[in-house]
Amino acid sequence: MKGVILAGGTGSRLRPITHTGPKQLVPVANKPVVEYALDDLVEAGIDEIGIVLGDKGREAIQAYFGDGSEFGVDITYIVQGEPLGLAHAVGCAREFVGDEPFVVYLGDDLMRDGITDLVGDFDPDKYAAGIGVQAVDEPSRYGIVDIDESGDVVGLVEKPDDPPSDLALIGIYVFTPAIFEQIEALEPSWRGELEITEAIQGLLDDGARVQSHEVHGWWKDTGKPEDVLHANRLVLDAIETDIRGTVEDGANVRGRVQLGEGSVIEAGAVVRGPVSIGENTRIGPGAYVGPYTSIGDDSTVDDVHIESSVTMGENEITADRTVVDSLVGRKATIRPNTDRRPAGDQLVVGRNSSLEL
Ligand code: TTP
Repeated sequence: MKGVILAGGTGSRLRPITHTGPKQLVPVANKPVVEYALDDLVEAGIDEIGIVLGDKGREAIQAYFGDGSEFGVDITYIVQGEPLGLAHAVGCAREFVGDEPFVVYLGDDLMRDGITDLVGDFDPDKYAAGIGVQAVDEPSRYGIVDIDESGDVVGLVEKPDDPPSDLALIGIYVFTPAIFEQIEALEPSWRGELEITEAIQGLLDDGARVQSHEVHGWWKDTGKPEDVLHANRLVLDAIETDIRGTVEDGANVRGRVQLGEGSVIEAGAVVRGPVSIGENTRIGPGAYVGPYTSIGDDSTVDDVHIESSVTMGENEITADRTVVDSLVGRKATIRPNTDRRPAGDQLVVGRNSSLEL
């Protein structure tokens, strides 16, 4: 079976981070979110992977994965360009997948337990498609499936006022090539996109069977800043200590901590895991790095109290401040205002930034 990762899209809900890069490369515990999708595909035995790219951040994703050999897979890049919808993105992969069933994974999704069971469960002789679902608290906010006693899907609705069940589509699908005819017949929805739910509904309307597979471990889509922070928390909850850099004598480190090569936690610094620190980063003597924080590569963190946050790399964060629940983009700096007048916060804030002071 081949795998298709959808890594185009607009990423509007993750601005300003997505002004300068694709959301699929936003790091969660110092690993781009899309790499978790790739790892899950590999774990499920899939090593031929197509990555669907938009216009935004195309080169960055290609530069990160290359031909896939470093990751033990063979990657084909498929350019969707404009984000015309999930079904359109899947349709772009038609030539790549050929005549075989294939897995589709949303490139900004994270799944605790991977997809091996879901893929193994799928029977292409009986079903035209299989979809991952999970019970959610507020079904009217999700795409919802209605299923019968045997788990067959009998209908799909987007954000229903009157949900037929609490089972939401979680962004992982197995399709046979029958889906492509449905995609070809689609018209853009009210939001101007070709909807994958409509394509799957088309399969049902034509009498094909669609299997549901309930996923029990957590899943998280990282569409918004708070989702990235939440995903970071969920992933850090399960990390093991891994110290590749240097922890100086006199540094106060407790809990599970990952420290990348070339990084140092200096004497006097306090780190309370779970924490992930990237490579070539200095945690200075005045820093407190609290639980559920990921600090990126090539950064300096000092004098600040930071927790429940993600910093993406090449950051200088040295203000005498408490930073919580924050997502700090690459190359952003948060420094003290020491000798400038008037005293006070001096900000250079780009479009779509948000500050809560
Ligand atoms: P979404 O998060 O639904 O869409 P988006 O990226 O446009 O985000 P926003 O609503 O914040 O503007 O997309 C889910 C995944 O599918 C994500 O990894 C992007 C990818 N995608 C495509 O590859 N092509 C598309 O046309 C769309 C809509 C999404």
